Amino acid sequence: MIESCKVAWSCPSNIALIKYWGKKPGQLPINPSLSFGLQKARTKTSIEIARASTHKINFLFERKKSSFEKRVISYLNELHYEFPWIENYSFLIESENSFPHSAGIASSASAFGALALCLTDIDWQIKGKDSSEASFFEHASRIARLGSGSASRSMYKGFALWGKTNKISGSTDGNAIPVPWNGTHPVYNDLRDAVLLVDSAKKEVSSSVGHELMNGHPFKESRAKQAHQNLSDLLQIMKSGNRDAFAEVVENEALSLHALMMSSNPSFILLKPNSLKIIEKIKLFRQQNSIPISFTIDAGPNIHLLYFAEHVHKVHAFIKNELVEFLENGRWLDDRLGEGPEKME
Ligand code: PMV
Repeated sequence: MIESCKVAWSCPSNIALIKYWGKKPGQLPINPSLSFGLQKARTKTSIEIARASTHKINFLFERKKSSFEKRVISYLNELHYEFPWIENYSFLIESENSFPHSAGIASSASAFGALALCLTDIDWQIKGKDSSEASFFEHASRIARLGSGSASRSMYKGFALWGKTNKISGSTDGNAIPVPWNGTHPVYNDLRDAVLLVDSAKKEVSSSVGHELMNGHPFKESRAKQAHQNLSDLLQIMKSGNRDAFAEVVENEALSLHALMMSSNPSFILLKPNSLKIIEKIKLFRQQNSIPISFTIDAGPNIHLLYFAEHVHKVHAFIKNELVEFLENGRWLDDRLGEGPEKME
């Protein structure tokens, strides 16, 4: 048993190209999903533990008490069966995001990703295991999944796949795995993501309520089938480097996610008029300039404009000249495919 220790990790957020929407008991997905980790949008978390007769958890977000503390406490309580040592320690957990608080971009993936990395790191230290092994990240991914499904995909550099598919060996519902680099064409090594902030208001529907709405959804079965097909197509496309076909699949996934929400009971329309204007502009720009840009969207109104490094100047000019007027305070974040999580001293 160790008396005390402190660990810190920086974990990226990720953006899904094939969407996870709907789950089975045990936080298992109804279909496989595929995403890439971002470079700049990250959460840094440190956990300091000390042996104590009374187990206490203190959580600070950006040096202040935060409403997220409740979720952190119930997450740690649920992890007792994974990490029985938790109840012998008191915890000080401090966390901060690299992206603006009010940006309205999902942070649960990076938040639970960073927490899971810290907890798995402590667990492996207690057990005397070597955290440089690849299985460390698979273990952390499984722990992250229990906090937020999408967090399971934040553990790797590049593309990550969560959920069982017969297209990739080793894929499982229990944790995400990296998509092998030799399975993707080099054009995807420098994928860019301009996060266009349309509206930063708190989400109208939490993702847990959204997943719940898939139970009994009239399109549940066909959605699972569609996701498997889109994943299989995308894996093929990413091998071949066909960037036009990439846009088709990725946009189909984003719009299908919103179509599922619109056809749920109760239904939700999370896109705003400006989200639709941006989508139209992106399609027109692609057509008129033959530049393979595309968009994806999470469960909210913000648009992720995806493009390739070689078009950076033209795409940035397009954002400034044609899209900024539809953005809240003209704000957007210039992000890209990242390097994965990082242990901090
Ligand atoms: O991880 P959750 O429960 O916040 O769900 C995330 C769901 C989407 O962001 C809409 C899609 C995805 O695959 O990330």
